[in-house]
Amino acid sequence: MDKISNPFSPGAGSPPPELAGREGILEQAEVLLARVRRKRPEKSVLLTGLRGVGKTVLLNEMERMAQAREYRTILVEALEGKPLAVILIPQLKRLLFELDRLAGAGNKVRRGIAVLKSFISAVRVAVGDVEFGLDIDSEPGAADSGDLEIDLPNVFMAVAEAAEDRGTAVAILIDEIQYLHTKELSALIMAMHKMQQRQLPLVLIGAGLPILPGLAGDSKSYAERLFSFPDIGPLSEDESAKAIQGPVESAGERIEPAALREIFRLTRGYPYFIQEWGYQAWNHAPSSPITAEIVRETTRLVEKRLDENFFRVRFNRLTPREKTFLRAMAGMGPGPYRSSDVADVLHTKITTLGPVRANLIKKGMVYSPAHGLMAFTVPLFDEFMLRAIPEFFVQ
Ligand SMILES: Nc1ncnc2c1ncn2[C@@H]1O[C@H](COP(=O)(O)OP(=O)(O)OP(=O)(O)O)[C@@H](O)[C@H]1O
Ligand SMILES: [Mg+2]
Repeated sequence: MDKISNPFSPGAGSPPPELAGREGILEQAEVLLARVRRKRPEKSVLLTGLRGVGKTVLLNEMERMAQAREYRTILVEALEGKPLAVILIPQLKRLLFELDRLAGAGNKVRRGIAVLKSFISAVRVAVGDVEFGLDIDSEPGAADSGDLEIDLPNVFMAVAEAAEDRGTAVAILIDEIQYLHTKELSALIMAMHKMQQRQLPLVLIGAGLPILPGLAGDSKSYAERLFSFPDIGPLSEDESAKAIQGPVESAGERIEPAALREIFRLTRGYPYFIQEWGYQAWNHAPSSPITAEIVRETTRLVEKRLDENFFRVRFNRLTPREKTFLRAMAGMGPGPYRSSDVADVLHTKITTLGPVRANLIKKGMVYSPAHGLMAFTVPLFDEFMLRAIPEFFVQ
């Protein structure tokens, strides 16, 4: 079929032709945004789920929804090894400047800028000099204690008060939240606590790999009170069929029900895989309709593309010891796995595996779905590991 009109869009963050099966979570976001706009308390949202399930796509969609409600938005991506403050500062500055340009901007906006300047002075080493070109002095003591758990809430408060004063609200969206340090997460939690207490119009929407089981003590109980953690999972068979059939028919072509069933069986409803399969099946089909036979024929090709684009890039970032660890996991099936079982397979003690395990979590390759358990963050990664390292011996 005509490759140019292929509707599917495999790729990180690429908006799908049909955002299937996410009505519930979008409605939750709609309610959150509307309530915060009216200064009613509502839990912030942290979307968590495995790689390629569509978290970034949802975050982008929620940013659009916020903008449609006349929010001012900040969308950033946390990066391993980059302080959150450094990521947020330029965006906060942009936002305050936008507010300052609005007609009749008053003291609250100017104070916001003064507080941000104070914050910057405390983290200058990390950010370097930030050009302001506005004649507003820093407010010493406002957000320069150097303790993020104190300073970030103060910055958020000043920004939210500035927005409130201008009759608007702020949405801060953070992708890849699993890369935030415990301190940074707890600073965000404290900041949102302040927003709720003061009923200020600032919402936080995050997305990333599951983090809740990794939090401990006070942070955890606060987090559970202030945030909801909707689990973004694979699509059901009906949703997966919709994700494929809708776009095919909108493009004026057809696909057989048996082909839809086959795609669901092969992808298990994982959105990234659905896009890839839809894309390849479309290109491979000589003419409409796309049949189950065509879907099966593209399996090798899709697997090769997924290996190259989705799995291999992650595999290549691993050290030999990390690969061995993951291969030991994969040999036991799809998981979750107990650390002690991995240690047994590798004929070693659980304590010696601690550092490797910690690094794999830091790299976002595995996460802990519950205390004492580990699982892959990439769907079907166990099967890939078996393809990548078919022979496996432990010396
Ligand atoms: N609801 C959906 N229906 C169909 N396709 C979807 C849906 N959500 C996402 N996709 C597709 O899945 C792919 C992955 O989406 P996205 O990059 O948002 O995932 P992610 O969860 O952010 O992954 P990662 O954890 O690797 O960042 C994209 O090609 C996107 O078009
Ligand atoms: Mg993403």
